[in-house]
Amino acid sequence: MKISMIVAYGKNWEIGLNNEMLWHISEDFKNFKAITSGHHILMGRKTFESIGKPLPNRTSLVLSNSGFEHSGVHTFSDVQEAFNFARKNAEEELFIIGGANIYESLFPYVDKMYLSEIDFEGVADAFLKPIDFSTWDLEEERSYDEIIEHGKVKSPAWKFKVWVKKD
Ligand SMILES: NC(=O)c1ccc[n+]([C@@H]2O[C@H](COP(=O)([O-])OP(=O)(O)OC[C@H]3O[C@@H](n4cnc5c(N)ncnc54)[C@H](OP(=O)(O)O)[C@@H]3O)[C@@H](O)[C@H]2O)c1
Repeated sequence: MKISMIVAYGKNWEIGLNNEMLWHISEDFKNFKAITSGHHILMGRKTFESIGKPLPNRTSLVLSNSGFEHSGVHTFSDVQEAFNFARKNAEEELFIIGGANIYESLFPYVDKMYLSEIDFEGVADAFLKPIDFSTWDLEEERSYDEIIEHGKVKSPAWKFKVWVKKD
């Protein structure tokens, strides 16, 4: 089973504030949905609470040591048990979907990264640990323009990149 991570981050590696996202980019949400649909998605308890419900057409696996439970999700206190659950369900690509804590601790397991680099700088309290790309190959890249509506930035410019770990 391949282990992938998917994340959107700003210019200073910022990913969240007050357990919420820092931007609203509908094309990025659509992209996230298209990539993760049909798969197991693994997240920390705080990210699940930020989303608030299991995402449709995906199997939600939540990591928690505090006995967290919620209908429609599978909770694990052990990462390997979560991976094994997905393997037993014949998953071929599991997606780590955050947050900061989970991205950092599970990074050594990641084989493939789906990254949205957002042209955003601002106050945040959750960050991605800076990634050293020298051990990764760029497989795909797309650029998206800023969207202006009524003279205001509706959504910032961003780049989508897919990286695979070098052998
Ligand atoms: N920009 C993006 O793409 C993106 C994506 C996802 C999330 N985010 C942002 O990230 C922020 C949340 O990140 P966060 O670091 O505060 O929280 P988090 O990683 O979502 O969740 C942390 C919690 O997960 C549980 N946990 C972590 N490691 C574990 C392990 N090895 N075994 C068992 N349980 C474990 C613990 O839950 P218990 O306390 O219950 O034990 C811990 O408190 C929010 O601001 C959110 O909006 C951004």
